[in-house]
Amino acid sequence: MSISGREVILGVGGGIAAYKACDLLRRMQDHGFLVTVVPTPAALNFVGSATWEALSGRPVHTQVWEDIPNLLHIHLAQVTDYIVIAPATADLIARLAHGRADDLLTNVVLASGVAKLVVPAMHPEMWADAATQYNVALLRNRGLIVLEPDTGRLTGNDIGPGRFPETSRILEALHEIHMTKADLLGKKVIVTTGGTREPIDPVRYIGNRSSGKQGFAIAQAALARGAQVCVIAANCSELELPGAEIIPVETTAQLGEVLKIKFPEFDILVMCAAVADAKPLLVSPEKIKKQKLTSINLEANPDLLAQVSATRRVGQKVIGFAAETENLLENAQAKLVAKNLDILYVNDVSGGAIFGSDSTKGSIILSSGTVISVSEASKDTLANVLLDQLT
Ligand code: C5P
Repeated sequence: MSISGREVILGVGGGIAAYKACDLLRRMQDHGFLVTVVPTPAALNFVGSATWEALSGRPVHTQVWEDIPNLLHIHLAQVTDYIVIAPATADLIARLAHGRADDLLTNVVLASGVAKLVVPAMHPEMWADAATQYNVALLRNRGLIVLEPDTGRLTGNDIGPGRFPETSRILEALHEIHMTKADLLGKKVIVTTGGTREPIDPVRYIGNRSSGKQGFAIAQAALARGAQVCVIAANCSELELPGAEIIPVETTAQLGEVLKIKFPEFDILVMCAAVADAKPLLVSPEKIKKQKLTSINLEANPDLLAQVSATRRVGQKVIGFAAETENLLENAQAKLVAKNLDILYVNDVSGGAIFGSDSTKGSIILSSGTVISVSEASKDTLANVLLDQLT
């Protein structure tokens, strides 16, 4: 499954820092990137194909002579959005600088016009050598982004510039290339979406018209901005968002359970789900005969948002949603205070608008009292405007 703009080839050179690229791969996945690993043949001396295949969940090749019918180098070059080469050894940098194509990775680099990030790691003398510096300058002149290595301890007794940079620095560079704001890098965002259903009997339920589109748009925007994302999806038809953890739920009680467990470890909660306000007092284990289905006794559901918001620690941010048909701003202000929120987005649902649609209109209310009016915007746009308010 591919998601636009997030396919990355991780090229791994034959240096000891190859083992650090395993963590880089994991963190890239946390940030929603979909990674195919292309090691050089020499890199397999440090980390074998089995490790890369297990971590990436994708096949790993090193030579153009493998999987010939699929024209590997051309196929990989075409589907990727970025190429990250980490670690890049002196030899690999030299081969790249001179346009060599003697293994799969260098073939893919030549065949692809996408942005390329090169992360050198080698002994200080090799990094400082005039040949390496000349090759690095060639690559930079050609538009490749070459990170400066870190300074510090290397294998053996060497100390100096040449260390593989911290994973966070590589991810920041990747996000910069990704042309997105990486303002949620390192943050954990939990989004509830969809609408809860309360069973009446094994066949029927009380539900609402929420589709889950807005919550998934927020989750996707948060991923793109560098966050680790978890989506609690109540009865959504769309359940895929590569890079995010998705937890499907049905009832308000299930949503509340998951939220209670998960909320403490997250930095930001976006409570987008339409939670059923009430549920049947009794759930019939048998299908109720239609002649007997004349009335349903209801009991109120707990206000999950108010409950969870009351437990928040310093620094945790909470965004709520509301749907109103009248006195929009007044009602919204009251809810923001009552539920102890940082931000509330109030949908103007007069006339049944918005549910299931790709666009929305309403107002963002901040705890400072500021109101931002949103007139007919896509749910993706609203997602980013809301996340902008957090930074
Ligand atoms: O009070 P109202 O239902 O308009 O508030 C909407 C906000 O409160 C939404 O963010 C919704 O997810 C949340 N909510 C909740 N538990 C309920 C009702 C609403 O968490 N029982």
